[in-house]
Amino acid sequence: MEVLKRPAPVFVVFLGVLGAGCSQAVTLEVKEGSSTCIKAQLSALLLITYTTSSSTVDPPQRNASTSLPDSTAVDAASSSCGAGGRPPWLVAVFGSGHALGLSFSTNGSFYSVTNLTLQYNLSDAALFPGANGSGVVTVVSASVGIWAPINTTYRCVSPTTIRAGGAAVTFSAVRLEAYMPGNDLSPAESVCVADRSTTAAPPTSPSTTTGAPAPTPPGPPEAGMFSVRNASGAVCLLAKMGLQLHVSYASRSQNKTVEGLFNVAPNLTASSGSCGGSAASLVLTQQGTTLSFTFSMTSAANKYHLSGISLWANWTDMRAPFSASNTSLDYLRATLGRSYVCNAEQTLLVAPGFSINTFGLQVQPFAVSSSRFAAAEECLLDLDQTLIPIIVGAALAALVLIVLMAYLLGRKRSHAGYQTI
Ligand SMILES: *[C@@H]1O[C@H](CO)[C@@H](O)[C@H](O)[C@H]1NC(C)=O
Ligand SMILES: *[C@@H]1O[C@H](CO)[C@@H](O)[C@H](O)[C@H]1NC(C)=O
Ligand SMILES: *[C@@H]1O[C@H](CO)[C@@H](O)[C@H](O)[C@H]1NC(C)=O
Ligand SMILES: *[C@@H]1O[C@H](CO)[C@@H](O)[C@H](O)[C@H]1NC(C)=O
Ligand SMILES: *[C@@H]1O[C@H](CO)[C@@H](O)[C@H](O)[C@H]1NC(C)=O
Ligand SMILES: *[C@@H]1O[C@H](CO)[C@@H](O)[C@H](O)[C@H]1NC(C)=O
Ligand SMILES: *[C@@H]1O[C@H](CO)[C@@H](O)[C@H](O)[C@H]1NC(C)=O
Ligand SMILES: *[C@@H]1O[C@H](CO)[C@@H](O)[C@H](O)[C@H]1NC(C)=O
Ligand SMILES: *[C@@H]1O[C@H](CO)[C@@H](O)[C@H](O)[C@H]1NC(C)=O
Ligand SMILES: *[C@@H]1O[C@H](CO)[C@@H](O)[C@H](O)[C@H]1NC(C)=O
Ligand SMILES: *[C@@H]1O[C@H](CO)[C@@H](O)[C@H](O)[C@H]1NC(C)=O
Repeated sequence: MEVLKRPAPVFVVFLGVLGAGCSQAVTLEVKEGSSTCIKAQLSALLLITYTTSSSTVDPPQRNASTSLPDSTAVDAASSSCGAGGRPPWLVAVFGSGHALGLSFSTNGSFYSVTNLTLQYNLSDAALFPGANGSGVVTVVSASVGIWAPINTTYRCVSPTTIRAGGAAVTFSAVRLEAYMPGNDLSPAESVCVADRSTTAAPPTSPSTTTGAPAPTPPGPPEAGMFSVRNASGAVCLLAKMGLQLHVSYASRSQNKTVEGLFNVAPNLTASSGSCGGSAASLVLTQQGTTLSFTFSMTSAANKYHLSGISLWANWTDMRAPFSASNTSLDYLRATLGRSYVCNAEQTLLVAPGFSINTFGLQVQPFAVSSSRFAAAEECLLDLDQTLIPIIVGAALAALVLIVLMAYLLGRKRSHAGYQTI
């Protein structure tokens, strides 16, 4: 895979927003008799722009977003292993009449996804409220970019967006294989470009030297400015932050589990991602590291929050690549149209063995205009820091008052005592 030789800076932060639910991984298999020919484990977020019939809404376009639900199933009738001249085809059906299809082809040494087909049912009022139209719409994309050598599993943890018609499908945490030699995914993996590290370790990793002692805190991270642009080139997501990853992993040099602190170097980090009406993602890629953040809108109030974080890391000292994610987080809550600010150090617990320390953070995942942050909403930690001096001052004043009163009372009582004698 020649593309992989391209020196790609890699550290990934990914923000994706999921509609009603979280993006869960689904496992899909196409079988012929008892043998499996296509197997896929993936999460997919669908963003579909549709027209509403209400002429009072301007523009009449609306976005629907959903992720492939747990109940997604393979449609055995339309799926195929390639018999009778049909190409191998994985067709997954979900909800009321929706379907996602991937068709495959091979040239003997490589296999690839030839096209992606998305069918959505506008009559599903739960997903497409107020749609001007009904029935099933089919959109196709013939440039999917998923390919791998035969007898290997295609792996892509990083989110990848494929556009088809008015829809965008964002895959993440993908492992899939077609033309399978056995009934399970081949152990040999072909890693997608986005996940690949071109050098052995992130230069900022505290554990790069052989036989090094336990990683020492590398000091506060440098703040970086990251942004995501939408299809028309306008900045749609802004983030300014210093990031420090706290990961516990099995160390090769120390032959035990160690706590590693890793500062994200903005300098060596590429950002990407996607924006949507209810979901936005920021992906930061640095050598050997992929970190993703997911922001979603809270449907009831005009609020957004950080709802998901995932990390994939392969640092030199790691016995095996580390990966962890959590899609049910509720951090950095702020109002739509505002940015969220937290200058104080903040710790975001993600999963056992993985947390992130943020420094000097300001983010705005929605409603960015003119490439600038909107008015800020400050975090409680920051407010505390301005409140503490006031509280301490008030407490001192109260103390002085109490001492004074005690003194005056004591004087009065002892005076009274003399009188009785
Ligand atoms: C709804 O669809 C009808 C028929 O396709 C069309 O004439 C009408 O302009 C559409 N309404 C809106 C608001 O787009
Ligand atoms: C589309 O959705 C409607 C309403 O949920 C349902 O009645 C219909 O059967 C669905 N169409 C297909 C092809 O499943
Ligand atoms: C997509 O692939 C399927 C299966 O290979 C094929 O039937 C269909 O015609 C293709 N669609 C397009 C637009 O190429
Ligand atoms: C198969 O396709 C791959 C990727 O497109 C290409 O590099 C390779 O040369 C092709 N092999 C044959 C035998 O055509
Ligand atoms: C793939 O694996 C099968 C079974 O192990 C083997 O027969 C076949 O030759 C392999 N194909 C390639 C292209 O390596
Ligand atoms: C992790 O990095 C090492 C080199 O440091 C490499 O040999 C190994 O293949 C990588 N693992 C994965 C799964 O990418
Ligand atoms: C990109 O964002 C700008 C500014 O918010 C907006 O005007 C434009 O329509 C967006 N483009 C797309 C393709 O979403
Ligand atoms: C690593 O630790 C295990 C158990 O703690 C031990 O059995 C093994 O010999 C150690 N390996 C090395 C290379 O020190
Ligand atoms: C970028 O990194 C280089 C070394 O890798 C360093 O010398 C330089 O100061 C960095 N620039 C910034 C703005 O941090
Ligand atoms: C729908 O999503 C597109 C692309 O993310 C965005 O440009 C557009 O503004 C959204 N429209 C609405 C009505 O939210
Ligand atoms: C995800 O985060 C939530 C809230 O912080 C926590 O309760 C939950 O245990 C986490 N899940 C995993 C798998 O770590």
